[in-house]
Amino acid sequence: MCGIFAYKGEKTNAAELVINGLKKLEYRGYDSWGVAFKTDHKISIHKEVGKIGEFDVSTLREKMNVPIESQMAMGHSRWATHGGVTKANAHPHYSQDESIAIVHNGIIENFAELKKELQGKGYEFRSETDTEVVAHLIQEYKSLGHVEAIKKALSRLQGRYAILVLCAEDNRLIAARRGSPLIIGKGEKEFFIASDIPAFLEYTRKVMYLDDDQMVIINDDAQFFDLKTNKKIEKRIVEIDWNPESAEKGEFSHFMIKEITEQKETITRAINQDETKLMKIADEIKNAYGTYLVGCGTAGKVCLTASYLFAKIAKRHVNVAFGSEFPSLQDFITDRSLVIAVSQSGETADTLEAIEVAKKKGAKVLSIINVEGSSMDRISDYSINIKAGPEKAVASTKATTAQIAILTLLAYALDKRLEEGKILLVNTASQINDMLNPRYEEHILQLAQKIQDVESMYVIGKGVNYPIALEAAIKLQEVSYIHAEGFAGGELKHGPIALIHEGVPCIAIVANDETKHEIISNAMEVKARGGYIIGISPESNDVFDYWIKVPEVGAASPIVNIIPIQILAYQLAVLRKNNPDMPRNLAKSVTVK
Ligand code: M6R
Repeated sequence: MCGIFAYKGEKTNAAELVINGLKKLEYRGYDSWGVAFKTDHKISIHKEVGKIGEFDVSTLREKMNVPIESQMAMGHSRWATHGGVTKANAHPHYSQDESIAIVHNGIIENFAELKKELQGKGYEFRSETDTEVVAHLIQEYKSLGHVEAIKKALSRLQGRYAILVLCAEDNRLIAARRGSPLIIGKGEKEFFIASDIPAFLEYTRKVMYLDDDQMVIINDDAQFFDLKTNKKIEKRIVEIDWNPESAEKGEFSHFMIKEITEQKETITRAINQDETKLMKIADEIKNAYGTYLVGCGTAGKVCLTASYLFAKIAKRHVNVAFGSEFPSLQDFITDRSLVIAVSQSGETADTLEAIEVAKKKGAKVLSIINVEGSSMDRISDYSINIKAGPEKAVASTKATTAQIAILTLLAYALDKRLEEGKILLVNTASQINDMLNPRYEEHILQLAQKIQDVESMYVIGKGVNYPIALEAAIKLQEVSYIHAEGFAGGELKHGPIALIHEGVPCIAIVANDETKHEIISNAMEVKARGGYIIGISPESNDVFDYWIKVPEVGAASPIVNIIPIQILAYQLAVLRKNNPDMPRNLAKSVTVK
């Protein structure tokens, strides 16, 4: 949530470089943006409301009407939390005397008290944000020297933050974090600081991770400090294996369709894991007194899918909780529990909090993540990288199926049938490769054109495909903005069937398994009340008004069933003139609670 990017080095176009890098982080927040850069003893700031992706960087000089040559700059792309979407609320924020500027990702929970205190001392606030208090607080302690002033200000904050500070009288770039990500990229005589790696991937793949309660001071080198002990820390440089192209749209019109298409390869990559490690993790699940799968949004639906997979494939019961709900279960967590956190970004605040709660109880934690070096990756006892590559569209697609693939494999490992699981998933990957072709997309487009103006639609599934119906609804909601809901087919008759009327589209996910007959009966019940049935199934059926064929892949059916719905959601978004990559009100990585 919110993208942060900063540069310090020998290049003299720091401001423009930062704007271009921020464009690559726009998926983290896109309601407004701003950049600050330092020239001699002055910090200049430019802010705008709207998407940074639409800004022509060559107009910066003209718009600012000041020299923009600078070797140190920082910028921010905002997802509003405190205060509306206005230029004044966009970051960076100046201190009162404009000698300090800051950008911030996170929430300062005690900002109201601090604001009152600072107002009492004569500070005037130019924005409604929680962030501005930090700039004024640093100014308040300026007599201590910049570094000590920042430390002192940070010590007064409650909440989560990733903060970057520029000081007019200091050539150092200073950053600190608690709970929100910051990664340092090390180039040749230059450094980058960003909330996500794609911002600087074109310059360097050498990274260092800032951990909670740590500060980095960038001058000619990067010095790291522990804010609690005040001691210097040595950081390991990690080489990232993402290539810059993997974070670009290339020939595709949107990241979402690029990432959907990449599912031709991502399942194969995901299941290519160290088997000894998988078997060790399977043993941990077996020996745990209570396994809890935890995730948010789509990742939460993946967790629910996995609970069915574990039951079906390994005859093993596991518990499922959304990250935000997990703290309510903490009384059941002990040092013999295992928590499996599922997260694309590895930075979702609610899931991170669940991990913190679990760790306090002494539970072991396995994270299934897509971003190596993310907070979850680093604080967990074990982690599995799903290797889907950068996922930039807000709507998760390739990460979702890669997560399901890994969890399917784990279920087979738990039942000591790892090889069988691998064969199933390799076959599934090859069937997806055949399925994803222009003809298939055209067939789904015809459906999208037919239903693009509906007000509501429903998705039903049963067994392991019930959570897929829930996930389908999220996909449709977030990019098409059509009211969509997912139900267990058998639940319709207990209430939701009252919503069905003539012409309402209802997607029935019909797997070729023991649930088939019942879900077909549920579809018939909807059809009898005028519903328009869209069947997602390996086989056609008379009840379907529109049939989208998916390959027959046995226990891996959740993976293939969600793909046509991802395509449908994408096409509906485009037909309805929505931006599928940056849906309204959302952000890719939800790092606030
Ligand atoms: O990065 P995470 O997987 O932890 O993110 C969790 C959710 O915020 C995420 O899945 C969200 O629901 C997606 N936008 C859904 O497409």
